Amino acid sequence: MRKPGQVFLVGAGPGDPELLTLKAVRMLGLAHAVVYDRLVSDEVLALAPPLARMIPVGKSPRSHPVPQEKINEILVGLAHEGLTVVRLKGGDPCIFGRGSEEAAALYAAGVPVEIVPGITAAQGAAASTGVPLTHRGLARSVRYVTGHCRDDLPLDLDWAGLADPDTTLVVYMGVANIAEVAARLIEQGMPASLPAMAVARATTSQERRLVTRLDRVAADLAGSNLSGPTLFVIGQVVSLYHSCPAEVLALLAMPPACEAAYA
Ligand SMILES: C[S@@+](CC[C@H](N)C(=O)[O-])C[C@H]1O[C@@H](n2cnc3c(N)ncnc32)[C@H](O)[C@@H]1O
Repeated sequence: MRKPGQVFLVGAGPGDPELLTLKAVRMLGLAHAVVYDRLVSDEVLALAPPLARMIPVGKSPRSHPVPQEKINEILVGLAHEGLTVVRLKGGDPCIFGRGSEEAAALYAAGVPVEIVPGITAAQGAAASTGVPLTHRGLARSVRYVTGHCRDDLPLDLDWAGLADPDTTLVVYMGVANIAEVAARLIEQGMPASLPAMAVARATTSQERRLVTRLDRVAADLAGSNLSGPTLFVIGQVVSLYHSCPAEVLALLAMPPACEAAYA
């Protein structure tokens, strides 16, 4: 009888290949098949064995994404062939990554699954910009929220609960709705002058930042050259960006690209 296969749901981190875990690298080296998202870099994909089957399932500007059910089917099919499968996702597979949905489908099909965590984009951006997500006296908690709802439905977030100036908010997938996010937070009492930062392509050589304030973040973003996957850090911790000397920022970030609009 054929040996059953296994699927490893592996976090590829935010972009810089050096942020992969040792376990992610080891699993990639063992893979017979790699099923990967669009944001996973070529350097990371190059760690798979030359003969591994490489299967892209991410969305690109010109093609539709492979539907989730189809991805689940591909993973189950490969595992049933007895293969060691790496399902590679940007950041951490279980932070806005649908990793848990894929794991549930695999468990239901009797396929063994192991999750290998990755550095999520928030942590990558925090490290590369030198802006911590928590800091004594500035933020006693941090919340990761999505700025995009399933099927483009209106945003349905707990605005009153989110409007806490002592909490750092990290908004994933928020580019299209950042004006609404900012307006709703201000409506609920967040100071309009609260520092806010957008970071695009964090931890890669194309990283770009915009440092501004909550009431200007949408307009400043629209007038900026940020592109690609972008997240927002909103909170008092962003004020620490300016306490970081330029030469340190240059070392922290691969290109010291910064547009500072915060005043
Ligand atoms: C579908 S979510 C996936 C998040 C991923 N699982 C993680 O843990 O980082 C995609 C969103 O993550 C954020 N993102 C991912 N990589 C990023 C990067 N390198 N720089 C900035 N934001 C990033 C953006 O907000 C993007 O729209």
